[in-house]
Amino acid sequence: MRIDIIISAEQVNSDQVKTNTVIVVDTLRATSTIITALSNGAKSVVPVATVEEALHIRKQYEHAVLGGERRSVKIEGFDYSNSPREYTNIEIHGTNIILTTTNGTKAISRSREGKRILIGALLNAKAVAGKAFECGDDIVIVNAGTNGRFSMDDFITGGAIISELMDLGPLELSDIAKTALLIYRSYKDIRSYIKEAAHYKSLEELGLQEDIDFCLQKDIFDIVPEYSDGVIKTGTAHLPEKLVI
Ligand code: MLT
Repeated sequence: MRIDIIISAEQVNSDQVKTNTVIVVDTLRATSTIITALSNGAKSVVPVATVEEALHIRKQYEHAVLGGERRSVKIEGFDYSNSPREYTNIEIHGTNIILTTTNGTKAISRSREGKRILIGALLNAKAVAGKAFECGDDIVIVNAGTNGRFSMDDFITGGAIISELMDLGPLELSDIAKTALLIYRSYKDIRSYIKEAAHYKSLEELGLQEDIDFCLQKDIFDIVPEYSDGVIKTGTAHLPEKLVI
């Protein structure tokens, strides 16, 4: 099984994903938000590119709410921002969340030709690794990145997921996948690495330190959301048998 990493949404193309299991990662914060919302009983998350699309698609769903950000701030007229902590609210239960974010929902949409498209973050690193391994195909981890650029927070999360995959069976890692693993293993305190990331600093400046703290929790959820036909839903809770304690 071969493991590779693509470092930003902009760099995804169909050939790199279509025969593979894709794991989309936007640690700060879109995929962390999606995992949290679905873990807290949201029925689905519908990722869309634009605010206009979100307003339009909302009409097609019952119990729809609008979530998302531009420049990390809640969009005017929307119900929720892109803060994962808002999606722990009891009112999320049973809703269809129409979500638009700057990089994360774009990375999901650009990965849409993947054979399977799983949603990962530190929050579910072990579970998403288990599910991807079980799929049996080569794996490509798509980092959302930041506006087309490499993002340290997504990269080390890729390393965390690869570290979990290493426990499951023999893997062939590309050079970039090996680098992510080496970085993850060199920084057991993930924050000491991620705090150097540009997006960490911009969230901190907006007073969103608690969101960062939330997103840096590893393996607090064991669901593996999957994107199919334009909608993200929760697969069954998954931990590979050999990892269950
Ligand atoms: C994104 O999709 O660009 C991010 O999740 C931005 C954010 O932190 O809200």
